[in-house]
Amino acid sequence: MKRNLSDLDATQLKGQVVLVRSDLNVPLEDGRVTDDQRIRASLPTFRLLLKGGARVVVLSHLGRPKGMTDARYSLSPVAERLSEHLGRSVRFIPEVVGAEVSAAVAEMEDGDIVLLENTRFLPGDTANDAELSAAWAGLGSIFVNDAFGTAHRAHASTSGLAEAMLAKGGQALAGLLLQRELRYLQEALADPERPFIAILGGAKISGKIDVIAALLPKVDRLLIGGAMANTFFKAIGLEVGASLVEDDRLDMARELMAEGGDRLVLPVDCVLTREIAPAVRTWNADRERVQEGDRIADIGLRTRTLYAELLADARTVVWNGPMGVFEIDAFAEGTESVADALADACDRGALGIIGGGDSAAAAVRMGVAGRISHISTGGGASLDLLSGADLPGVTSLSED
Ligand code: 3PG
Repeated sequence: MKRNLSDLDATQLKGQVVLVRSDLNVPLEDGRVTDDQRIRASLPTFRLLLKGGARVVVLSHLGRPKGMTDARYSLSPVAERLSEHLGRSVRFIPEVVGAEVSAAVAEMEDGDIVLLENTRFLPGDTANDAELSAAWAGLGSIFVNDAFGTAHRAHASTSGLAEAMLAKGGQALAGLLLQRELRYLQEALADPERPFIAILGGAKISGKIDVIAALLPKVDRLLIGGAMANTFFKAIGLEVGASLVEDDRLDMARELMAEGGDRLVLPVDCVLTREIAPAVRTWNADRERVQEGDRIADIGLRTRTLYAELLADARTVVWNGPMGVFEIDAFAEGTESVADALADACDRGALGIIGGGDSAAAAVRMGVAGRISHISTGGGASLDLLSGADLPGVTSLSED
């Protein structure tokens, strides 16, 4: 077992400089945060530390600025939003490491919080540079990793910093958000209450093959949606028209179907169009009725009913990936119907988990997010965890 921040009592926090790696990688538009879900999810850890009288130094990346300073990816707007949520000033330090950072930390008092500039402004972060990790570790005595969304990356500010902190005799703990994510995505799914249903969507089988392979032996049903379904359709000899297909994955699709048998459920109908664009003609058709030139853009009406019926009895559900071209309203209904059915299942007492990204956005858009047991803040990280992979951001923490 990994050590958690919640294992410490306040006396162990008072006066300590605690470095917290959060995932505050949020979307910005014109210098304003447009979706602060990840900021809000990070608040419990900050609040616990501040209440305990720690001096909190927050690190995060934002976007992929390629190892150089780029004002478009500054965390300055995030510091403002964080201040609003915490109801106290979060001082923004416009440097990642070095003399200015050390001086600012030296000036901190108990219960203060600062946010450093984007860790990826330095190439050493993604390169997992040990000197950079050691420089950050030198600022304090406790490292808290709460960046679940980045836990699948072995970077200097994640696993590197944990290792550097342990090397100097400090502690490296899981924050409250990371702990919660692991509780839902790892522990709850290790021995799930049945029926256990997984819903997987998105464009490609190739990106989710490890998840499908890991879940297929465990689930009672695996419901497929998104363009990924087209590859299965083609593999069983159906016409897919001009739809997105991975021709190099047809054998893989056949193998998965052979292994899954009737546990692997494909859509029975689809929404078709001639062009994937807003305000175009669309129609519903059985999957056998796709014509040359048609494009499959969403799961159809009968499939939505079928999937809702299957979810009605479920006790555990995990969902990752949209059912159609969710960005366009006309093709978002299949994804929204799954969000709705999942929320209904949760109302009936099922454990429902959404693995980040577009599926999480659909739940928010449908106004059902509050009814889902857990919505993960990590896309890639939750997929890796569901695949059974070890996350460097977790394995590097102190053992209990
Ligand atoms: C994410 O948004 O998935 C995380 O913040 C990780 O970002 P990355 O894929 O750029 O490492």
